[in-house]
Amino acid sequence: MSAEPSAQAELSIQAEPSAHAVKQRAAVEQLPAYVQGKSVPNAVKLSSNENPYPPLASVLDVTRAKLESFHLYPDMGATQVRQRIADHLGVSLDEVAVGAGSVEVAQQLINASADEGDEVIFAWRSFEAYPILVQIAGATPVRVPLTADERHDLDAMAAAITPRTRLIFICTPNNPTGTTVSADEAEAFLARVPSDVLVVIDEAYTHFDTDSNSVNGLDLFRRYPNVAVLHTFSKAYGLAGLRIGYAVANERIAGNLRRVAVPFGVSDLAQAAAIASLDAETELQQRIDQIVSERTRLLQAVRDAGWHTPDSFGNFIWLRTGERTPEIDETLKQGGVVARAYGAEGIRITVGDRDMNDRFLSALQGITPVSF
Ligand SMILES: Cc1ncc(COP(=O)(O)O)c(C=O)c1O
Repeated sequence: MSAEPSAQAELSIQAEPSAHAVKQRAAVEQLPAYVQGKSVPNAVKLSSNENPYPPLASVLDVTRAKLESFHLYPDMGATQVRQRIADHLGVSLDEVAVGAGSVEVAQQLINASADEGDEVIFAWRSFEAYPILVQIAGATPVRVPLTADERHDLDAMAAAITPRTRLIFICTPNNPTGTTVSADEAEAFLARVPSDVLVVIDEAYTHFDTDSNSVNGLDLFRRYPNVAVLHTFSKAYGLAGLRIGYAVANERIAGNLRRVAVPFGVSDLAQAAAIASLDAETELQQRIDQIVSERTRLLQAVRDAGWHTPDSFGNFIWLRTGERTPEIDETLKQGGVVARAYGAEGIRITVGDRDMNDRFLSALQGITPVSF
């Protein structure tokens, strides 16, 4: 008998099951995982920019009624909710595209605009999903550092535009620093952007934005065909767990977003809850006002304690903690507060209800402020 392995044995060696043998896209395997705000037992969770208040009774009633029919697919065109959004904003149905959270709509915008090798520009640090979504599309993320006062550096962003640029995200108020882009700044920036590049004004936190100078994405959308606006029901409207967000964009672009959307991606519950939330704006506004007033209290208390922090116009505040970030994050955890720490950069603390915020302030007491 030959000592050589039989052809059959050789085949079975080669066929040894191994997940590593399966070809996968390198761009995907190199992606960092999206970091979700952590929950720690008995600690207050101020790490995900969630609304601290439970769903409104009127919204709950509508969604409960929908529980009877979740054996059926939702309306794929999401026509009712899109029409309600369109009426609310004074735009047309065809200018509205929805997705499972505005993060999915951001992905639609990227997928509809950027091919492999194309570039997508955004400020950094900003919403951490941007680079991940861009890389998933095979495009190249172009991160433009924030200014020293934690704002978008629009001059540098304009200078970063190349013939490969397809999309630019402007996040205002910016997550995680809370700073805004003013109307004048946005206008001057748009004058430098070629008309074939789409500019997306991501206004996830717009309801908390009390800065009277802030750009209004919809005003720009009405005047510039290459401007789209991104909004969400997750923050001010408190529907984070139901997943619905939308873009307002010109008809051609909005139509393309619907083409690349995950079919049936927005559940019937989410569609109904979004309509009910728009109907309950007055009640929701009271909650927004409470969050804004707590934000003012937090900023004041943090500054009184010796910290430098920019004015924040989101439902969160930002502490630039540099190298001390992990240590400060750990001390906050020991004090029963889970915030969102970013490497050696800083910590974002979501504005919670009064008790949650008091927990944060007392946890912060033992920490020596970082000065730069
Ligand atoms: C700036 C910004 N845009 C978009 C989103 C996405 O939110 P959602 O997908 O829940 O609508 C977030 C979420 O934190 C955000 O911070």
